[in-house]
This record gives sequence, structure tokens and C-alpha cells, in this order.
Amino acid sequence: MDLIQNIKEEAKKKFKKIVLPEGHEERTLKAADIVIEEKIADIIILGEPDHVLADAKLFGLKNVKKEIIINPKDHEKKREYIDLMVNLRKNKGLTVNLAKQLIEDPLYLGTVMIKNGDADGEVAGADNATGDVLRPAFQFVKTRPGISVVSGAFVMILKDTEFGENGMLVFADCAVSPNPNDHELAEIAVATAHTTKAIAGFEPLVAMLSFSTKGSANHELVDKVISATRIAKEKNPSLKIDGELQADAALIEAIGKKKAPGSTIAGKANVLIFPDLQSGNIAYKLIQRIAHAEALGPVLQGMAAPINDLSRGCSVNDIVNMIAVTANQAAGIDN
Ligand code: ACO
Repeated sequence: MDLIQNIKEEAKKKFKKIVLPEGHEERTLKAADIVIEEKIADIIILGEPDHVLADAKLFGLKNVKKEIIINPKDHEKKREYIDLMVNLRKNKGLTVNLAKQLIEDPLYLGTVMIKNGDADGEVAGADNATGDVLRPAFQFVKTRPGISVVSGAFVMILKDTEFGENGMLVFADCAVSPNPNDHELAEIAVATAHTTKAIAGFEPLVAMLSFSTKGSANHELVDKVISATRIAKEKNPSLKIDGELQADAALIEAIGKKKAPGSTIAGKANVLIFPDLQSGNIAYKLIQRIAHAEALGPVLQGMAAPINDLSRGCSVNDIVNMIAVTANQAAGIDN
């Protein structure tokens, strides 16, 4: 069974409640219909019910029914959610009036539902920018205890099985934190190792990437990667991690041996941690397009409950897959 099929099968066993705030978006609605049909997750759609049902009819969807739609402007828990929001963020200046406005925004409603225990996870972003999906999540769901920074990992499934774990590599951070410091980068490495085991299902061998291998260049940017590698090892002594490594030294055995002799990771890495978001985001998109790789993600890591962001260029299938990943995270497979 391939990785994605396996993730779907696991999701079916757990049958978690996943909220989809973008009920007025065509691909989201079509994905919801498939997920309901295949019993991958229990779906809640946010949107104006008449609008959603008219679209469902137009697209020939049989599983999108009134019972699973919540109208952000008018529903029975609105008052309860406003109170919860104000309670959580009055010290940040959130007033009742502002909360009343925010709760009508489906992206806020979705995260507040999760915080209130009315949903287990959320998938959004087919129609909204990453920042707009993440901000409400950061404000109301927040990070897991002990985690300060959320990051986004991609499972890259390559056609060429020579690299990583039989052609599978996990990349991070490709989606969230523009410029992590050394402590944050270390956290990203540890979290990504966790995601690798939980979602990709293999033992992580983590390379901390740089433009330098083992002191070949001196620069403050390299120092950050060296320091992050040390902190990650201290935080998690059993983690198989090494750095700083260039990408070729991380991935290709002969080059790894030459540039980083004695490293147990060089030449064998299956998890690549990028020093910042520019390099991570550029790398995953280049490999996805140029090498025609499948990019499963971003799987957001470090949030107290799973909220996953889609690329606005996503397909219906991408959304179905991400709902399955989110359901698995919600089931605690990533804990
Ligand atoms: N992890 C955890 N919490 C965070 C993070 C983070 N990485 N970043 C911000 N926060 C929290 C802050 O602590 C703050 O919490 P508080 O209000 O309780 O104090 C809250 O979020 C808002 O913080 P701001 O600094 O005001 O965050 P802002 O809204 O300006 O930006 C954001 C956060 C949206 C994630 C921003 O960093 C961003 O836009 N990142 C890039 C996202 C992106 O465009 N990715 C590329 C595309 S994705 C793709 O291609 C797949």
C-alpha cells in the first residue's frame, strides 16, 4: 500500500471531526464529498447553507447535506464562542465587539470550534493566503506545551528512489517561520523528526542544511545552523542528526564521505532542515516542479491541535489527502 493510501486507511479507523472553513470554494466542497463518501473523516463545512447546498447540487455532489453545514453568521454556539474568544485574548485587547465580528469569519470560527472541543482539526487555504489561515490558529489554538514555533513540513515523494528513504524525503520549514533563530531551528528539526515517524513512517536521519559542510565556510548564517544542530542534540540525544551539511553532502554517499568523513548522516539523510523559509519554500517548489515530485503538505507541526494550510494551487485530491493527514494528527499519531 502506498503512503497516501496508508494515511487514508489510518484516518478511517480514527474517524476524526475535521472542519472545512472554505465551504464556498469548489475544490473544498468536492473534496468534502469524497471524504464523506470514503468515510475518511467526519466533516463540518462552514458557509451559508443555501449557498453551499446550491453549489453542491451544481457540482453533482450527493454527500453534502444540510446537517453538516454551519453558518458562521448564525448558529447556536455563537455567544458561547464569543465569550471563549474574549476570555482567551482580553489581555491582547480583544473586545466583545471585535470578537462578534471575528467569529463570523469562517477561519476564526473553525479555530474557535477546535478550541471549544467541537472539532478535532481544520483544513483551509484553497482560497486564503497562508497568513490568514495561520493567524487565527496561532491566536486561539496556539502551540503545544514546550513548543514555541510552528513550522510546516512536506513529505516529498520522488520518482527517483536513489535519494532519502526509497525516494521519500521530509523537508522543513517550507511554510511558516520566515527566519528562525538557532533555538527555533532546533525545535523545527525535532518536530520534523517526529512528523517523519508519524506521517511518513520511517526512521528520521536529519541533515541541517547550509552552504557549508563541517566548517568549509565561515559566516554567521552557518553559525546559526551549527548552533541549532547542537541544541537539537541536547534537546533530543537519541535523535540522529548532523550539520552543518550542504545538500549534496547530505544526500549523496560519495560526497558525504568526502566532505563529512565519519558522519552517520552525510550521504544518507532522509530529512532536510532548511536554515530559513526562503530556502525551504524555494527548494520544495523547485523539486516538486522540476523533478515532478509529489509534495504532501505542508503538514503543520507544533500546533496544539492540527490545522493544515493548503496551497491555493491545490487540487481536489490534495485536499482529500490533507484531510486524511489532519485526521491522523488529530488521532495523536504524531504525539
Ligand atoms: N509559531 C507559533 N506562533 C507564532 C508564529 C510561529 N511560527 N508566528 C507568529 N506566531 C504567533 C505570535 O506569537 C502571535 O501570538 P499572540 O498574538 O498570541 O502574541 C501571533 O502568532 C501573531 O503574531 P505576529 O508576529 O503578529 O504574526 P503575523 O500575523 O505577522 O505573522 C505568519 C505570522 C502569518 C505565520 C507570518 O510569519 C507569515 O506570513 N509567514 C509566512 C507564511 C507564508 O507566506 N508561507 C509561504 C507560503 S506557504 C506554501 O507555499 C506552502
